[in-house]
Amino acid sequence: MKTVTTIAAVRAWRHAHESAVGLVPTMGYLHAGHVSLVERARRENPRVAASLFVNPTQFGPNEDLARYPRDLARDQELLAAAGCDLLFAPSVEEMYPEASQVFVDPGPIAAPLEGGRRPGHFRGVATVVLKLFGIVEPTRAYFGEKDAQQLAVIRRVVRDLDVPVGIVGCPTQRAEDGLALSSRNTYLSPTQRAAAPVLHRALGAGAAAWAGGERRGDALRRAMLDVLDREPLARADYVSAADPATLQEIDAAAGPVLLSMAVFFGKTRLIDNRLLTP
Ligand code: PAJ
Repeated sequence: MKTVTTIAAVRAWRHAHESAVGLVPTMGYLHAGHVSLVERARRENPRVAASLFVNPTQFGPNEDLARYPRDLARDQELLAAAGCDLLFAPSVEEMYPEASQVFVDPGPIAAPLEGGRRPGHFRGVATVVLKLFGIVEPTRAYFGEKDAQQLAVIRRVVRDLDVPVGIVGCPTQRAEDGLALSSRNTYLSPTQRAAAPVLHRALGAGAAAWAGGERRGDALRRAMLDVLDREPLARADYVSAADPATLQEIDAAAGPVLLSMAVFFGKTRLIDNRLLTP
């Protein structure tokens, strides 16, 4: 695997071959969730590129940009072992050379849930992902269902702006106790880590209510909150039962429902979700 840090080097690599390229955008500190995206891209494309960029424009002023975990050498090993051909790991100056003036506004789909709690977050995500698409010119790009709203935002950007990249959503990889893998899990103390599978259990309670015929949004949200409330280390930021197409909260479900939540353990904020289908 080759590692490059400049846009010019990525373009040279891309234009040296005609074949399809799968792209896996990341912020690094990789785990088996990221690796599953690279392996999927490997199976579906003759060549695979990954990016590693802790994108400042998607972090709020009081968020964890400065302390976001980093380990380039380990990430390079994991990517190479998973079959990645090119790693693009640019500096902030390479991606945002002077004060950037143009940003992608992802519209109403970015307003609720994560977008409501993290103003400007999806503007930063949509902008950096569109830039990466312009730099790498991938045939397909791979994103995790773990970040369900992010995936919905990117699908919407690609559709509305006619971006010729196929978007592939990939299932959430979990630890054995159900906790969704996340680079931010490293912030958790041992006792917080032991409590963190409560997100998965709460989603399970929502899914059990659904399986029992419950279709009222309030009751689905209540089923999840009841589980979270019993874990003293967990503080719910939001709990949602929404229309997966619009991400608006539902009163009574007529079709599929996306259950999602954000939960604080101390200062660490974890998210998870589960799609319910009739
Ligand atoms: P990051 O959090 O590093 O995640 C990179 C990709 O890995 C995203 O598509 C995310 O959904 C996926 N992912 C994370 N945890 C996962 C898990 N447990 N199972 C499966 N996939 C998982 O998401 C970002 O970076 C950034 O916002 C980015 C898209 C790179 C733009 O900066």
